[in-house]
Amino acid sequence: MLLDLKQVLVGSLTILIDVVQAKTAEEWKELSIYQVVTDRFATTNLSAPQCWIRDYCGGTWKGLERKLDYIQNMGFDAVWISPVIHNIDVNTTWGFAYHGYWGDDPYRLNEHFGTPEDLKSLSDSLHRRGMSLMVDVVINHLSSNAAPQDVNYNLFPTPFNTSNAFHRPCVIDFANQSRSEIEDAAILDALIDSVVDLVAKYDIDGIRLDTARHVPKPSLSKFQQRVGVFVTGEALNASVPYVAQYQGPLDSAINYPLWYALVDSFMGRTTFDFLVSVVKSEQVTFSDAHALTNFLDNQDQPRFASYLGDGRGDDVLRDENAATFLFFVTGIPIIYYGFEQRFNGGSDPVNRETMWSSGYDTSVPLYNYLTRLNAVRKYAASISGKDVFYSEDTTFLGSGVTHMAMQRGPLVIVLTNVGEHIVDAGYTVNGSKFSAGDSLTDLVSCDIVKVGAFGTFTSPSNGGKARIWIKTEYARKFCSLGNRHSSARVRELSQ
Ligand SMILES: *[C@@H]1O[C@H](CO)[C@@H](O)[C@H](O)[C@H]1NC(C)=O
Ligand SMILES: *[C@@H]1O[C@H](CO)[C@@H](O)[C@H](O)[C@H]1NC(C)=O
Ligand SMILES: *[C@@H]1O[C@H](CO)[C@@H](O)[C@H](O)[C@H]1NC(C)=O
Ligand SMILES: *[C@@H]1O[C@H](CO)[C@@H](O)[C@H](O)[C@H]1NC(C)=O
Ligand SMILES: *[C@@H]1O[C@H](CO)[C@@H](O)[C@H](O)[C@H]1NC(C)=O
Ligand SMILES: *[C@@H]1O[C@H](CO)[C@@H](O)[C@H](O)[C@H]1NC(C)=O
Repeated sequence: MLLDLKQVLVGSLTILIDVVQAKTAEEWKELSIYQVVTDRFATTNLSAPQCWIRDYCGGTWKGLERKLDYIQNMGFDAVWISPVIHNIDVNTTWGFAYHGYWGDDPYRLNEHFGTPEDLKSLSDSLHRRGMSLMVDVVINHLSSNAAPQDVNYNLFPTPFNTSNAFHRPCVIDFANQSRSEIEDAAILDALIDSVVDLVAKYDIDGIRLDTARHVPKPSLSKFQQRVGVFVTGEALNASVPYVAQYQGPLDSAINYPLWYALVDSFMGRTTFDFLVSVVKSEQVTFSDAHALTNFLDNQDQPRFASYLGDGRGDDVLRDENAATFLFFVTGIPIIYYGFEQRFNGGSDPVNRETMWSSGYDTSVPLYNYLTRLNAVRKYAASISGKDVFYSEDTTFLGSGVTHMAMQRGPLVIVLTNVGEHIVDAGYTVNGSKFSAGDSLTDLVSCDIVKVGAFGTFTSPSNGGKARIWIKTEYARKFCSLGNRHSSARVRELSQ
């Protein structure tokens, strides 16, 4: 069972010690994040063991450190790793705690993933590469595999070695979290201290906070203030106003409302109008939608490629379109390991495949596509100026059943959910920021179009692929236009 920790409702006097070189929300907005379940990503000697999906499979911090080229060569700036603290080490009804969310000692690391030196070495390696480390942290609960009445509290470290440190088992009213039981300031402080120490010891740049929705908001505020680094909290809910309440107490929230809408839209269950309405609503409801962390799938949700796509394509092109949306919509993009390999595990735990089963193939289409998206995002920001690009809301130039067009910085992006199996009719964009007579180049295909009055242009079908239009004068970094012109001419001549 998960034992709810008692936490404080009223802040007690705390001394701010040792504020480390924290990475702020402003800095995180410029990054793209690659999410890893440590146990599943890479083994220390890069062997490829078979394993039971509910047991430890052998991934380690050393193994991850050895595969950082694979991640950095795709252009990612940050790695989010699963929880690092010691977990219950027994075979439960759900298997073992390989995922890390069943902590029983916040003062020790999980030895399945390596030593303190190994975790520090991973952190140092990331920093030497100019990358950042995000660690998953849980302050809501500690775990025991015993029935509530049989828990041996002596097994927890001080001050958690007493039943008084925990709430009685209860059902949380998520619509009103005011807890009836007294919260314990000392317990919250001890938990926060354990994370402050972790952040300082391993130079952690950001935190993903598990089960944030289960923790009273004043406790979250105190946590955010004390840990001093960027925190993005998990509040699993589809409602924009509901999740928006967690930004303020925390720097950021995992963008669940967007996830629900984007899955529905890219799978063709709703029109893109719905997705557009959710983004517009987020941009005015959250205090800072640019700090939200956006995702297509994660360790708790079915893989994006596991969806058959109700009547639409279940293919790489659909995934490319969705990833393009993710990289250019307001917020910080997160890619869950294995997306690039089209891992297609459904609900937990089969969405936690071993990465080594892919052979870390860097020639697959999505690996290369994500590499381009990371490069285009940085390039677009350099053209607009980072300060402008990372605080500019995405605007929308149209949406419908099969297509949408959005605009950010120097880019106009046309997306579709038809995949490769349905005819892509192309899309007419109107009211773009471009001027009549401008020449545009698509950074995906290097095709060229001309803009008419009102910024109107036709984004022709590319067989279901996304289009990322930029003024042709800016396209040379990605398209060798001389060659393209001549090959286009050759095509025309041969027709
Ligand atoms: C890799 O490490 C595992 C676990 O320690 C060990 O069983 C295996 O023999 C090693 N493989 C190689 C090729 O060294
Ligand atoms: C864990 O328990 C499951 C049954 O719940 C069993 O199938 C499995 O073999 C056990 N694994 C280990 C390593 O004990
Ligand atoms: C918790 O452990 C500490 C250190 O061993 C001990 O002093 C204390 O009495 C324990 N608390 C309870 C409630 O058992
Ligand atoms: C929330 O719960 C608390 C404690 O049970 C109660 O006093 C309060 O009236 C509730 N608030 C609302 C809006 O229901
Ligand atoms: C969101 O939270 C509200 C309030 O607790 C709840 O009624 C609703 O079912 C939740 N929705 C989802 C999708 O989790
Ligand atoms: C494009 O937008 C302009 C200005 O909003 C409008 O006058 C024109 O009718 C639109 N054209 C099309 C084809 O929708």
